[in-house]
Amino acid sequence: MRITEHRILGDEKRERVEIFVDGAPVEAYIGEPILAALVGADINACRVSAKLREKRGCYCGIGRCGECRMVVDGERDVRTCTALVERAGQRIETQWD
Ligand code: FES
Repeated sequence: MRITEHRILGDEKRERVEIFVDGAPVEAYIGEPILAALVGADINACRVSAKLREKRGCYCGIGRCGECRMVVDGERDVRTCTALVERAGQRIETQWD
């Protein structure tokens, strides 16, 4: 569930769009971190570690650890906690390391 109104969010109205995560439509807002849209959709896995053979997701949330790396519009290793939703129809995919 998303919190859409809160005093720390301000009064600015954001543009709601649809992005695609592993082919499934997900609600997102222009300018929010991609990871925020994923969490809002109860998606917690960003990549699968080949070494550990397990799903990995948000750890630091500030662009340092790399656990949230995904494939964004065909580009690998995008840190989704700091990369922003830019437009409708963005394609986000689980990254297999
Ligand atoms: S969660 Fe650590 S870089 Fe994104």
